[in-house]
Amino acid sequence: MQEGAVRLLSTVVGTAPDAFRIELFGEDCGDIYPGMKRYRILITRNEEVMYVYTSNSYEFPPDALLHAEETAKAMFHRLAGDVARHPERYLTRRPSAAMRGTKITADAVILQGSPRRHGNSAILAAWCADACTAINRTSHIFYLQEMRIAACTGCYACYNEGYCPTDDDMPAILNAVEHASLLVICSPVYTNTVPAGLKCVIDRFQALHARRSMTGAPAAGTGLLIAVAGRRGREHFDCVGKVTRACMQNIGIAPAEEILIDGIDEIRDVRLIPDLEAGVKSAVRSLLKPA
Ligand SMILES: Cc1cc2nc3c(=O)[nH]c(=O)nc-3n(C[C@H](O)[C@H](O)[C@H](O)COP(=O)(O)O)c2cc1C
Repeated sequence: MQEGAVRLLSTVVGTAPDAFRIELFGEDCGDIYPGMKRYRILITRNEEVMYVYTSNSYEFPPDALLHAEETAKAMFHRLAGDVARHPERYLTRRPSAAMRGTKITADAVILQGSPRRHGNSAILAAWCADACTAINRTSHIFYLQEMRIAACTGCYACYNEGYCPTDDDMPAILNAVEHASLLVICSPVYTNTVPAGLKCVIDRFQALHARRSMTGAPAAGTGLLIAVAGRRGREHFDCVGKVTRACMQNIGIAPAEEILIDGIDEIRDVRLIPDLEAGVKSAVRSLLKPA
């Protein structure tokens, strides 16, 4: 329980030494978002936490019929009744969403954001992976178009425990990015910004923002954007740069100088650009010092 949490309700069900204690705490989270409040119900038995229910005020949109505190209090009474009727349900701890997701760890996490599996962004991603291997550092390329990643629903449930409740492939990316020292985003420009699949991933990074704001984790590495645009001119990268920098800063990653490759519609293939491969590999090497 975070410092500053206030106990709002408390009751005991059953008799010692096997009694259950049910407590509702309220916590001010205004340091994360203006006016945010978090409510947590803990069911403990012999000092062991058997069940946790958490909600926060941002989960309730302005026109919702109920609000966070009254919902948490109603939930408290409901859980107290359930513990009294079915104590057997609370004798073992239930697995939490935190345990979900494949654990992939790598020094560099590379997001390949183009829907084209064999396009320019994929070639750039492969160069980045090769650069890591050359200096004995590990890397993992996530080919986003092959993954099942839903759009963020704005439920704000990630601010309860630091995990997104959506059951898809995103936890693997979140786990990997959280532990990597370098995040590389390889993306084409689509209608002046990033393709929709990559935007879904960027929005879903909100769960990492939530986790970091709850744990106070320190800054988490560097981020490199490598983007390709069909047209000529730096202005075509304005939005892609803004979106990816905002994303990185939101999750505590320091954006490095970007590699922006324009005029691809005329060239078609980044491999035809002199010195580009060497430049990309050198950038990755310098951001990811040898182990
Ligand atoms: C739907 C779509 C939208 C695009 N929008 C832009 C754009 O706004 N500006 C631009 O310069 N190029 C645009 N392009 C061109 C791509 O950025 C370019 O073809 C890029 O090289 C594709 O990268 P890839 O080979 O990694 O898939 C667009 C392409 C597609 C398919």
